[in-house]
Amino acid sequence: MKRFEPLIEVLDDDLYIPEVRRWSEEKYNLLGAYMEIFTRTMSKKWSNLVYIDMFAGAGYAKIKSTGKILKSSALIAMSLPINFNTYIFCEADENRFKALQARVTRDYSDKNVILIHGDVNDKIEELKSHIPRFSRKEGVLSFAFVDPFSLNLKFSTIATLGRSFKVDFLILLALGMDANRNFHNYMANNSQKISDFLGENSWAEEAKSCNNSKEFIRYLAEKYDSSMVRLNYKEPEKKQLIKSHSRNLALYYLAFYSKHPLGNKFWKEMQKYTDNQLGLF
Ligand SMILES: C[S@@+](CC[C@H](N)C(=O)[O-])C[C@H]1O[C@@H](n2cnc3c(N)ncnc32)[C@H](O)[C@@H]1O
Repeated sequence: MKRFEPLIEVLDDDLYIPEVRRWSEEKYNLLGAYMEIFTRTMSKKWSNLVYIDMFAGAGYAKIKSTGKILKSSALIAMSLPINFNTYIFCEADENRFKALQARVTRDYSDKNVILIHGDVNDKIEELKSHIPRFSRKEGVLSFAFVDPFSLNLKFSTIATLGRSFKVDFLILLALGMDANRNFHNYMANNSQKISDFLGENSWAEEAKSCNNSKEFIRYLAEKYDSSMVRLNYKEPEKKQLIKSHSRNLALYYLAFYSKHPLGNKFWKEMQKYTDNQLGLF
């Protein structure tokens, strides 16, 4: 069977298109490969599959170095061979939101899509209200892609969904970009941003033993895993490290969390089929 190709080139449509770096292609490949396995397998067991994109973007993105225009996460999710039943997109930036809304209305009017404009940390109750709770057959299973630029993702936002629904998360932990750059600042100021990101305040004392940003990043990643385990998620498989092409710097980690052992099995399977084998923690 021909594999789904997540990098989908499109033409400029005169709507807003944000520029992204080359490494976004790796992110789209991993996301697309995982969603293909998820929808193909889970649609046989669950009658209602929901895709949630909490930092949805504009639907298209232009790769800065090549000028290529690609579908970004939300529209990759709508291009899979097997559909989700419902799509919920949240986007804070007005230009991106309007462009996404226009593309969805123009090209995907046959799909059940909910678009939410605003900060997902503030809009999480509204987002939650759109996830169907019941379904006649096996029930509702959601997959949430969480793709922030920085650590501006509150753990309480993730917990609100994770506690109430069956939802698997693919979370971009922007540790390489944000934690690396701001290590001294965060440590010196007992940062509220880190407390919100981890969902607890005790980190500052513990993190004193970190001698450099590398140790701090490892500490944050392990702490994040423990917070997810406390929500009854399985201990995750290796995170996927994504590096910048130009300077070979660690940028971020894609971490997958599921309450079901099958989720981790798919994640491992997906990692086998993608080029970047650099799992880290
Ligand atoms: C790294 S981009 C990812 C876009 C998209 N997922 C993609 O595939 O390229 C992060 C997106 O989240 C949006 N954003 C930033 N903070 C947000 C927040 N608190 N709530 C919702 N969206 C936010 C940004 O405007 C941007 O479009």
